[in-house]
Amino acid sequence: MKTKVVRDNCIACGNCNAICPDIYDYDEDGIAYCHIDNNEMTEEIDEVFRSLVLDAYKNCPTEAIIVED
Ligand code: F3S
Repeated sequence: MKTKVVRDNCIACGNCNAICPDIYDYDEDGIAYCHIDNNEMTEEIDEVFRSLVLDAYKNCPTEAIIVED
C-alpha cells in the first residue's frame, strides 16, 4: 500500500494528521502530505499503519487522499 495527498484538493482540515500522524504531516500552510516519502508515493506503508491510512482516506472531506495497493 502507498498513499499521497492531492495537495490542490486539501483544505487543511486536519483529519489525516489527527488520525495517522506517522504518515501524514502538514507544510507551513497546513496543507497535508505523506511525509514518509515526501508525497512521492514511492514508499510502502508499514503494515501497522494501513488501517489508519484507510481511516484517513475515508475521513478526508475533499477526497484529497489517494491510496493504492
Ligand atoms: Fe487535507 Fe484531507 Fe488531510 S483536507 S488535511 S488531506 S484529511
